[in-house]
Amino acid sequence: MISDATEVAARVDMVQIFIFGMMAFWFIACNAVLVYFMLRYRRKGPDDKVANIKGNHTLEIVWTVIPCILVLIIFYYGVVVWKDLRVPPKDEPVYEIGVTGQKWSWSFKYPNGATTGNELIVPQGTNIKLNMISSDVIHSFFIPEFRVKEDVIPSMYTYLWFNAKHAGEYNIFCTEYCGKDHSHMLGKVRVLDADNWENWEKTGLMLGEERLTPLENGEKLFADRGCKGCHSVDGAKLVGPTMLDAFGRSATFASGEAYTVDDNYIANSIKYPNNQIVAGYPANQMPSFDGQLSDSEISDIITYIKTIKSE
Ligand code: CUA
Repeated sequence: MISDATEVAARVDMVQIFIFGMMAFWFIACNAVLVYFMLRYRRKGPDDKVANIKGNHTLEIVWTVIPCILVLIIFYYGVVVWKDLRVPPKDEPVYEIGVTGQKWSWSFKYPNGATTGNELIVPQGTNIKLNMISSDVIHSFFIPEFRVKEDVIPSMYTYLWFNAKHAGEYNIFCTEYCGKDHSHMLGKVRVLDADNWENWEKTGLMLGEERLTPLENGEKLFADRGCKGCHSVDGAKLVGPTMLDAFGRSATFASGEAYTVDDNYIANSIKYPNNQIVAGYPANQMPSFDGQLSDSEISDIITYIKTIKSE
């Protein structure tokens, strides 16, 4: 029941259990006394005199002072653990990762220049600080098992820190309603042991993992970076145009200008989506991926889009 994923998570849970336990104790104790008094002192008949109590200073002081002390204990315990939750330990190295939230995916940027989408890769037993910003609306970054959550806001940096004790996979949720596909804005934290982490940092691959072909990588990026949330591959009309038979298609922009989809068209649409709004589709829906995807990643996505053909 108590989370073992991070030290802080266990402490957060202890605060919860302490407060809940104290509430439960007093709830049961008060109600037990209430029921007992109802039975013990009930009026037994018309001749039974009602006691007329004017007040009792000692009792009133006792039932004021004791709850005050208990509430102050809850406050103090909460503040101490909240500080652990918010402030990474001083004098210890912190590994900082950039996080960008956008409709409807997460991107991560590492100190070595690597980027990942929807999968946050971190070393085990290291203080990780996430510097977070949104490129469109308010999102909220939540890793339930680490008991950390923080809003991700446009034009203002927010942060989170954690230190994962065990290698493994944990869920990331967006917990701020951010539009149509809010509930699909999911990710994973992948905590790696020292060997795997060292290998990943150098090569971008897990131990034993094969390098993907451009086509495979393009398909993976198309899914991981949230492209398929708005661009179907089966012809369905979603927020943006379908990718089925997109390559080579000729049509017109909202401005009336004619275009044909080629490599440059796709690259420009990924980097500067609002410069190329297709007629019949709303503007300002797609976030720019300029700087979020490398040129080589964009090439892989183009390679994949070329293969999305109806027979
Ligand atoms: Cu992003 Cu909800």
